[in-house]
Parts: sequence; structure tokens; C-alpha cells
Amino acid sequence: MARNFGDDFAGRPLIVGGGLAGMMAALSMQRPSVLLCPARPGEASSSMLAQGGISACVAADDTCELHIADTLAAGDGLCDESVVARIIPEGPEIIALLERYGVVFDRDAAGQLIVGQEAAHSRRRVVHACGDSTGAAVVKALAEQIRQTPRIRVMQGELRKIILHEGEVCGWEADIGGRRLSVGSPAIVLATGGIGGLFPYTTNVSQATGSGLALAARAGAVIADPEFVQFHPTALAVGNAQGRMSLISEAVRGEGAFLLNERGERFTDELAPRDVVARAIQAHLSQGHQVFLDARTLPGLRFAERFPGIDVICRRNGINPSTMLIPVRPAVHYHMGGVATDTCGRSTVKGLWACGEVASTGLHGANRLASNSLLEAAVMGRAVARDIDASIFPAMFGHVSENRLIPENSDVLPAVRDLTGECLGILRDEPALRKAEEALRPMAEQSDAALVALMMVCAARERKESRGAHARMDYPQQATTARRTFMTMSDCLGHVGKNTVSFHSVSEGVV
Ligand code: SIN
Repeated sequence: MARNFGDDFAGRPLIVGGGLAGMMAALSMQRPSVLLCPARPGEASSSMLAQGGISACVAADDTCELHIADTLAAGDGLCDESVVARIIPEGPEIIALLERYGVVFDRDAAGQLIVGQEAAHSRRRVVHACGDSTGAAVVKALAEQIRQTPRIRVMQGELRKIILHEGEVCGWEADIGGRRLSVGSPAIVLATGGIGGLFPYTTNVSQATGSGLALAARAGAVIADPEFVQFHPTALAVGNAQGRMSLISEAVRGEGAFLLNERGERFTDELAPRDVVARAIQAHLSQGHQVFLDARTLPGLRFAERFPGIDVICRRNGINPSTMLIPVRPAVHYHMGGVATDTCGRSTVKGLWACGEVASTGLHGANRLASNSLLEAAVMGRAVARDIDASIFPAMFGHVSENRLIPENSDVLPAVRDLTGECLGILRDEPALRKAEEALRPMAEQSDAALVALMMVCAARERKESRGAHARMDYPQQATTARRTFMTMSDCLGHVGKNTVSFHSVSEGVV
């Protein structure tokens, strides 16, 4: 019989996504695996764009307890404390591991890691590389490791379907090299990133349209907290900014930059949690003000030396940050919600794991603490790999078949972006959410983008309180009990204005 295109990787665990979480899972896994990425490993991932760094309690004046306390405070009552206590202490070990993989973090003349300050951190604890190009430095080093690791088969393509047998993963379908390939496999790891590409303004790569989240939901996985979307306060607001916007790292404010209006007045605490600062800027813009970051004088620093990448971005847009104000506005940056997982990265579907931004472990609560995302991606990528290595799979996954590629309908995405931009923004209310739900519902069966947006909208409608990044104009108070949202696709598709979304207090959990 003729050998099939995919014979070499039938039966291997599939890892989907070429950002930090996916590459970490592949490198940590001792079993031979397949790494499926939309581009070359590291490219087209939001990890690659990360500027600030990785939070880790490595400084002499810091402790894990302080880092845990800051994470819980920023999460506004919604973090799962047991998850926070499990992930945060791994920071120093993860930094050491990344260094062994070849990442060169910035160190001082005495050889100590240099730690940056970001909002809502009570200590300097953000480890960085090349000043402000941490993500790029990390993915470059890991991509090189992947190239040198023969047990990892890298494929460029897109996952289209998770195949189930009696509710358990038994294979996958992907578009690879112009073909639709169907492969038997006992384990799939989603590391597909976030949802920024579903919004009109985002700091994410445009590929981040929640595709992994949608496939998990279609496979029956429980989705947690989809309503919580983090807006980064300071995206570069130049010209007719549309689609992907450049980030001006929170580390710039951490080093002493101020937020000013056109009259040169400060109007908020620059180092308050991200949700608070984003709302303050949005309110100021709504009142007709302009908002700028003033980084002309940073105590003891030269801008271009500490932030060389941001300096280039600004100069490309005609702004010299050492002498000029930087115009900024909030943009969608991070999804706290995602595929509900435990601390091994297991979803509620047997054989399906998730890690990185597509997952929701409960670490971030209602508002992620700055620079905890790369930390979580690395810790959970490794945790998933360990769990899969320790799993016993039946040897029955040989099948591979090839089919004609069926093109997806991409017309829906612009309509989804219009709705999220109008109805799922920094401030929400019932009429706008209802309008979005009505418009998205007819599209959701066919379109992954519409399904993910619909899940976010349904959960946002049901959460009748303001907490962290979810701010409702009609429910400005915080509920007395903090409850996480857990929902399935059928909860959502069956949701017609009645409460079918389940809420669990943060100590209960469902996974
Ligand atoms: C930033 O550099 O401001 C982004 C860091 C993060 O998203 O945690």
C-alpha cells in the first residue's frame, strides 16, 4: 500500500500552536509528538510580541507569597487560589529552564537578573530580554531547540476538527499543504492563543481568533470565564489605527512614565491594575480628551537603551519618545477565559489538554496581573507534557486519510469584529449585549469566530455585576460572592435569555 502523507505521525500526541506554551509542551514531552503551527514555530504567535517580560520572584526583596498576593489582588476575587499557589512559585525555576534553552535574559554588571516594575506588582519582578523584546527572544531560542529535537515533527497548517469516539479524543483533522488530513491520535494539546483577532482593535496577532477555543467547545469541553477580556491601557494610537496595534509596554509606566491629557494633566494612577487604568483612559477619551504617555524623562534611564524595540516602533511612526509624547488608547490584549483546565492542563474532554492563553486555569481571575501570562504559558506547557508522558494510551491510533480541502467561510469575521467592538468593549450593558447575542446566534453553528464571540456575550449577559475587566454600566456593583463561569457550547446555543450558564464559587471548580 502507498505510504500516506501523515503515516509518520499517526498515534503521536498533537500539539497545536507555535507560541511559548506549545513549544514548551513539545520540548518538555519525552514522547515523539507533532507540533502543528500556522507558521514557523514562534512566528504568528502573540508570545513573539510580548514586550514586558516574565514575572518571577527572583529579586532579593521578593517572595512567592508577595507575588501570590499581588496576583490575587489584581484578579479581583476570581482567581482560583489553589492554582495561583501551584503556578506562581515555579517562576524562578522556569526562568532557569528558559536560560538552559538558550534565552539570554538581561543581567546587571554583577550578573544578577534585572527585574522591571509593572503595574500592581508590589516588587520589581519582571525578568526581561533585550530590554523590551522578551517574547521575541524566548520564541527564537525555543524554536532553535525545536529544530534540534528530532522527536518533534513540525507541520505547518491549521487544525480543523477534534475527532471523538464515545466522547474521548481519537484523532484530528487539519489542513496541511493544501490537503485535509485526518489522523488518529489519543492526545491533543491546544496552545492556540487568544481571541484578540475577533476585535477591531488588538495588540494580538490577527490569527488569534479563538479557533482552538471553538474546536474545544465543539468537542464538548467546558469553557470557563469567557466574558473576561483584558484591554491593555496603552496601545500606540497613531493615524487611523485599525486591526493590530503596537503595544507600549506597561514597563514604560513602571519606569516612571506618566499618562497625561492634552493639557498636560495627569488623571489616573499609572500603576493601578490594568483594568482600572484602561477604564480611566477610556473614560477620559469619551469625555473628548486626548491621552498621551510621557516617557521623556525616566529616572536614571535613557528610553532608547531600556526600550529599544518600542523606540523603533515609535520612531517608525514619527515619534521620538525621548522628546515627544506618545499617543495611546486601550486595545484588546488578553483573554482570561478559555478552555477550563486543571493544573495538569486537562480539559473536561478525555484526551484533550490546553495550555497558554487558550486555557483558563483560574490563575488570572477577572484581571490578569502583568507578565503572569508568559509565566503561566511556560509552566502549563511543561505540566501538560509531563501529564501526557505519564499517561497510558491504547495502541489503536493508526489511521490516516487524506481528503479534498474544504474552504471555510471567512466572510463572518468582519461582522463579528463590528459586534465585539460595539457590544463587548470596556463598558458593557444589557441592550448592547442582547443585540450582539441576537446577531451572533444565527452564525454560531457555522462559524468558529461567531461561536466564540457568542459564548463571551452569553456569559457577559449572565454576569450581572462588575468585576475586574468585566464592567457593566447597568450593574456597577460587585456581587458579594465571587463565582467563575463554566459553560458548554450547548449551554450557549440553548441560551435564550434564561440562565443556563453555570456559575461556581471560586473554591468549587468543575475540572
Ligand atoms: C506589557 O508589556 O505591557 C504587556 C505585558 C503583559 O501583557 O503582561
